[in-house]
Amino acid sequence: MRMVDIIAKKRDGFELSPEEIRFFIDGYVDGTIPDYQASALTMAIYFRDMTDREIAELTRSMVNSGETVDLSGIRGIKVDKHSTGGVGDTTTLVLAPLVASVGVPVAKMTGRGLGFTGGTIDKLESIKGFHAELTPERFIELVNRDRIAVIGQSGELVPADKKLYALRDVSGSVESIPLIASSIMSKKIAAGADAIVLEVTTGAGAFMKDEKDAVRLAETMVHIGQRVGRKTAAVITDMSQPLGRAVGNALEVKEAIDTLKGQGPADLKELVLALGSLMVQSAGKADSKEEAEKLLENSLSQGKALKKFRQFIANQGGNPDVADHPEQLPQARFQIELLAKTSGFVTEMAADQIGLVAMQLGAGRATKEDSIDFAAGIMLHKKVGDPVTAGESLLTIHSDHADVDDVRDKLYRSIRINSHAEKPRLIHQIITE
Ligand code: URA
Ligand code: CA
Repeated sequence: MRMVDIIAKKRDGFELSPEEIRFFIDGYVDGTIPDYQASALTMAIYFRDMTDREIAELTRSMVNSGETVDLSGIRGIKVDKHSTGGVGDTTTLVLAPLVASVGVPVAKMTGRGLGFTGGTIDKLESIKGFHAELTPERFIELVNRDRIAVIGQSGELVPADKKLYALRDVSGSVESIPLIASSIMSKKIAAGADAIVLEVTTGAGAFMKDEKDAVRLAETMVHIGQRVGRKTAAVITDMSQPLGRAVGNALEVKEAIDTLKGQGPADLKELVLALGSLMVQSAGKADSKEEAEKLLENSLSQGKALKKFRQFIANQGGNPDVADHPEQLPQARFQIELLAKTSGFVTEMAADQIGLVAMQLGAGRATKEDSIDFAAGIMLHKKVGDPVTAGESLLTIHSDHADVDDVRDKLYRSIRINSHAEKPRLIHQIITE
């Protein structure tokens, strides 16, 4: 087999065979296929697309390029959730203890954040003492005993994705649906998931700005799951404005605790119930959406989810008392209000701009080496569709620095107030097999 023939075949719009796809992935990872040939093929895929059969084979080959996590020691169906990214996305912090509290095993492997989408471990580390450095044995023991544990990402999963993603990034083929879908799914499968629930975001703060692309990506990933025997479902959500009200690590932990107490923002609760009910159904703990939602609602109202959160934090060295005393979380020295200059309705709160400002305040990393200021961030008091009167506070800036003029200017530019606005729908669509 010759790589040049595979490139020409895809260039001319033909379907590659499983052997050809494996030849490419194996050769690229072991270094016998050079970057220039790999980048020619990824560009041909960008223009010619791939069939579902090709995408499934590409995903399998990528999974096989490195180590995989063996979660077979954990009782039950392991369901993992993945989001294509959002701003102020507090979902996992609520969802993980909530579904664990109804018996779904949550064996979460997760990472740190880069750019304006924060990582789950960063958020959890704002709780004093919490750590995600567990041995694989301890991780499995905790999930079997208490149904929940979070572990930091290990290095050797899907080396094909690391290499290909870096190549696509500098050769103009990141925005290819078959390549994105196989990239995401290969990592979830290698991490040991039996079933996968995806949140595919659209809008300003999302990777997929366009709804049509988001739906195609979601459908493609659900088809991969079907072909490789991992039950997969996806929720398409609006990420034109930040999710919930808190953006920033400790602020989001507090928001998660409020939500577990039934006092959180409505949009966050809506999303948690939608994703959670898919997870509960995939894990075989309920037969219908209604039954699954009822289980979750009961766990929230009876305080079981909050109790599970405390147990989870204590298991991993954290201070569980933050659940009752959120004031023990890191607090910024200054809280500065951003006052509305005009009256009307909020028509825009650009998630990407607000995310970048939160990062500038210290809530996120611009490079891998940056450290995080856990207390820094933004609390939104108004969201799109809300009425506002001049002089009212739109949001509070949490910062250790009193001089926030630059941040203030940027925030004013990211928010629009007009004479009329409607509340956007958060959940656009649910895609199942
Ligand atoms: N996120 C991923 O994990 N992979 C892609 O290819 C794009 C976004
Ligand atoms: Ca939030």
